[in-house]
Amino acid sequence: MKRFIFLLMLVLSFAIFTATVSAATTHQYVGPKKCKMCHRLEYKTWLNTPHAKATNVLPKDKKNDPKCLECHATTKDIEEVTCEACHGPGKDYKRGSVMRNRKLAIQKGLNIPNEKTCLKCHNTKKCKHVKSFNYKTMFKKGVHKFRHKM
Ligand code: HEC
Ligand code: HEC
Ligand code: HEC
Ligand code: HEC
Repeated sequence: MKRFIFLLMLVLSFAIFTATVSAATTHQYVGPKKCKMCHRLEYKTWLNTPHAKATNVLPKDKKNDPKCLECHATTKDIEEVTCEACHGPGKDYKRGSVMRNRKLAIQKGLNIPNEKTCLKCHNTKKCKHVKSFNYKTMFKKGVHKFRHKM
């Protein structure tokens, strides 16, 4: 009986622990139209990058395959590799008052992408179409234009 209670406590504390962790790190996705409102240049130039047709390039029978959508979409409900695939789910940081405060925006889920962000998907071991990745040249071809000089 003692042993059973001990095990029960162990399971319970683990459940509470994981619930706390996910509450602190789960933000929701809103889709790229919500960012377009304030970031027109980035949106319009993103449309010309290959990421804006990442789901579209999949063969017909793979367009719903979770194994492919992991990199060829943003979530199972948001097609293409959109803003939030690189910048993080936006529901909690997209308000102007939050966005103007970089530190707060990051706390609320904003990601400032770097090479590591790209390599999550540009992983030659996981898709036979992936070529080797050079951040400088891939950045020029794959990232939108900026309002501010980078
Ligand atoms: C209500 C307007 C508004 C919306 C909606 C909005 N932003 Fe912003 N964003 C801003 C403002 C204001 C800044 C502050 C800097 C600037 O003026 O560009 C900013 C800054 C940023 C930055 C630069 C952060 C840095 O310091 O390097 C990124 C990246 C960004 N937004 C991404 C997004 C994404 C992705 C979305 C959609 C999920 C989004 N924003 C939605 C207004 C907005
Ligand atoms: C780990 C992430 C990842 C997974 C998983 C993945 N892909 Fe890809 N795929 C990519 C990336 C990144 C590219 C672009 C590669 C490049 O140009 O270097 C790509 C390119 C492609 C292309 C070429 C597109 C073009 O414009 O020529 C096809 C087709 C493709 N993938 C099909 C698939 C299919 C089908 C699956 C599922 C069985 C899949 N991929 C799973 C990341 C992935
Ligand atoms: C393939 C990844 C990727 C996607 C997709 C993407 N971005 Fe970016 N974005 C970047 C990178 C990389 C930077 C530069 C980060 C740095 O070095 O500060 C950046 C910078 C920014 C900035 C700050 C610079 C500026 O323009 O003032 C904003 C705002 C921004 N992105 C908005 C967006 C929006 C809106 C979308 C969707 C329409 C989007 N991004 C899609 C990778 C991406
Ligand atoms: C969520 C997954 C994902 C992330 C993150 C991502 N990419 Fe991609 N990228 C893809 C997929 C999928 C394709 C293929 C799309 C197509 O063929 O239209 C692609 C295609 C590209 C291409 C075109 C390659 C070619 O050979 O024409 C470039 C360039 C590129 N990405 C650069 C970047 C850079 C730079 C970053 C990081 C700032 C990045 N990507 C982040 C999934 C991703």
